[in-house]
Amino acid sequence: MNRREVSASSKASTSTSVSGSRLAPSPAASGWLGHAGAFQRDPLGFLLSTAKTCGPVARLQLGPLTYHLVSDPGLIAEVLQARASNYVRDTRSSRRVRMVTGESLLTSEGETWRHQRQTAQPIFHHRHLMDLARTMASVADDACEAWDRAAREGTTLELSMEMNRLSFAIAGRCLFGSDLRERVEAVEKAFPVLLDELFRRTSHLANLPLWVPLPRHLAFQRSLAAIDRVVAELIEEHRRLPRTRVDLLGLLMQARGEDGQVLSDDLLRNQVITFLLAGHETTANALTWAVALLAASPGERDAVEGELDTLRAGDAGAWDVERLSQLERLTAALQETLRLYPSIWIAERRVVAADDLGCWHIPAGSAVVVSPYVTHRSPEHWETPDAFRPSRFLGGGARTLLRDGYFPFGAGPHSCIGQHFALMEAKIVLATLLSRFRVTLLNRALPPPLGGITLRPSAAFPIRVERR
Ligand code: HEM
Repeated sequence: MNRREVSASSKASTSTSVSGSRLAPSPAASGWLGHAGAFQRDPLGFLLSTAKTCGPVARLQLGPLTYHLVSDPGLIAEVLQARASNYVRDTRSSRRVRMVTGESLLTSEGETWRHQRQTAQPIFHHRHLMDLARTMASVADDACEAWDRAAREGTTLELSMEMNRLSFAIAGRCLFGSDLRERVEAVEKAFPVLLDELFRRTSHLANLPLWVPLPRHLAFQRSLAAIDRVVAELIEEHRRLPRTRVDLLGLLMQARGEDGQVLSDDLLRNQVITFLLAGHETTANALTWAVALLAASPGERDAVEGELDTLRAGDAGAWDVERLSQLERLTAALQETLRLYPSIWIAERRVVAADDLGCWHIPAGSAVVVSPYVTHRSPEHWETPDAFRPSRFLGGGARTLLRDGYFPFGAGPHSCIGQHFALMEAKIVLATLLSRFRVTLLNRALPPPLGGITLRPSAAFPIRVERR
């Protein structure tokens, strides 16, 4: 047993021995529900403290379900990369997500998943992203008009809503060739209801079927119907566009399924919802935290503003790919934001065959969860892990899962297909807004994050903006 395992098992409750191999240590729990109550009350805090007391692998009991929280970078790489075929995505949480997306790139496995990933991939190629940069910059420019007005009139804005709207508009134009702005309200109301219910159903052991007419269930069904209407309209509108347009929806419409046929309307709907879901709130949350963290850290904000001013000197043109690549301070601030607030903060896998991770036994049929949020805040891998210090990302090459315990976009075959899209979008939006406006937070402290399907602020984020 190495030093870490000794200290882990001494702080946590017993680690039982089963036919020679050992079960991972477990935090204290009571009764049949085990850790379910603690996880439901405060998922982020509970997993952070579990990793601290139990070490690299912790065993959690949610009623009859056994989960393992794996927080050591080397073991996470085993799960997500090296032994990915033994740790599959056919999980409880994935079945819940299916209630909204159906079978899609986010929920499928095996050949079906491979085919869907190959179909969508060309949109995320570097060459195509370069073209999308212009569209992203023009949507970000449009947003400046509203910020200008707010600055002139001294109006209060709500930061998460601003970032959600902007990111939604960018997804609309870049992925679906559509101006989504008039639909933003429907989506803004519907997605949080859907995501909250999905997370509730994942973290609670027993759930009534959706047809039981509880107010919560009715709200879920209404929200799903609202999103379905938006998606149907998007598809219908796209069918009327010239075929020369290259965007994700166009690609999906022309793609052939595994059976060699064009995708059915249902499959097309599933993919569109998936990209709406995966592609806008994630980036919006990252942008919200980034703007807020910079506003709350004047030294870091000044460094980013200085860099933006130098690069823009005498030229008010849009941020293109060439200039974005020179934004070292802004990129570091964004990477540090994604370390502290990784939008997808937890991922689950089901264990196909019994395995050993480190010296811990992982039974077949149990589940493994990995959490960028937990590993990114580990004092073993990051100095002063809770501090916002972008300079740790300056120099020294890209941070990786294995070397640094950094994986905001996941790792292995299911890692984020939209990673470069998201990073480019975030840099363009931040560069456009922060070069023109200074943001002041109206509340003294940042609201704590809320660990649901995504990691979003737990309260409104009122801000004022002024022209720089
Ligand atoms: C800051 C923004 C984003 C973050 C932090 C993020 C994070 C992640 C993570 C951690 C995963 C892996 C989940 C797992 O292992 O189970 C993932 C998967 C995925 N992401 Fe993202 N994402 C972001 C933006 C986007 C965008 C913009 C898109 C699309 C336009 C997107 C589409 C997807 C899809 C489709 C998958 C599933 C990939 C597969 O299974 O093959 N994401 N994302």
